[in-house]
Amino acid sequence: KAIKLHDSVDSTQNIAHRLAEDDALEGTLVIAEQQTSGRGRMGRKWISPTGKGVWMSLVLRPKLPLQVASQLTLLTAVALCRALRTVAAPLEIGIKWPNDLLINGKKISGILLESTAEEERLKYVIAGIGISVNLEESDYPQELRDIATSLRLELGRPLDRAEVIASFIREFEQLYTAYQKDGFGFIRSLWEALSVSLHKPMQLKTANGMQIGTPIGLDESGALLATFENGATIPIFSAETLP
Ligand code: BTN
Repeated sequence: KAIKLHDSVDSTQNIAHRLAEDDALEGTLVIAEQQTSGRGRMGRKWISPTGKGVWMSLVLRPKLPLQVASQLTLLTAVALCRALRTVAAPLEIGIKWPNDLLINGKKISGILLESTAEEERLKYVIAGIGISVNLEESDYPQELRDIATSLRLELGRPLDRAEVIASFIREFEQLYTAYQKDGFGFIRSLWEALSVSLHKPMQLKTANGMQIGTPIGLDESGALLATFENGATIPIFSAETLP
C-alpha cells in the first residue's frame, strides 16, 4: 500500500482528499514533517511543528452506511490508544470521548474523521491523526500548556516517530479487519475499557443545549449513553464537549 511522505503541506487532510478523489486505494497514507494549516475538530487549529510529531491522514473505503462513520472514529481512537500504550509504556494513556487521547488529563493526540457519502453510503473516509510525539514546552503557545502535552514531555525522552507510526498501522489493520468481519461489538468493549470519560460528569450537547451529564457507556451504534439530572439516559451522537 502506498505511503506518501511530504516535507511541508498545508494539511495532510487536503492531500488525502485529493488522492481519494483520484481513486487512491484504501490504506493510502499521507505523512508530513510539517503542516502549515493543520486543522482540528470544530474548526480549531492544530499545531504541527516540523519533525516534532506524527501528522498523517489515512484513506479508507469502508462498505458501510453513512450513519456508522462514528464507529470508525471510535475504532481509530482504540487503535491509537493501544499503539501509544505500547511504544510509550508505562504511560497511562486514555480516551476522552469521542476521540481525544489524554495523559493525566492533558491532550497528546487528536483524530479528525472527514467523510464523503453517496446515496447514504460512505464513499471514502479520511482519518486524520495528529500525535504530539516529541514536542517541547516551547512548541506550545502559552494558552495550551496546561491542557496539552507530548509523549516526550511525559516520558522524559524522545521517541522514534517511525516506530509510533508502525505501531499504529499494526493496531489499526488488525482492528479494522476484525471490525469488518465481526461488527462493532468488540470495539465498543475495548473503547469502554480504555475510556477516561465514563462515570464522570461532563458538559454534553443535547437536543436541549449544553447540559451536564454522566457518560455510562456506548450503545451498539457507537453513541455515548449519558445520564442526566432528571434521571433520563439518552444517546449522544456528536458534541462539543467542555472540560
Ligand atoms: C482534534 O483533536 O481536534 C483533531 C486533530 C487532528 C489533527 C490531524 S494532524 C494530521 C491531519 N491533518 C490535519 O490537518 N489534521 C489532522
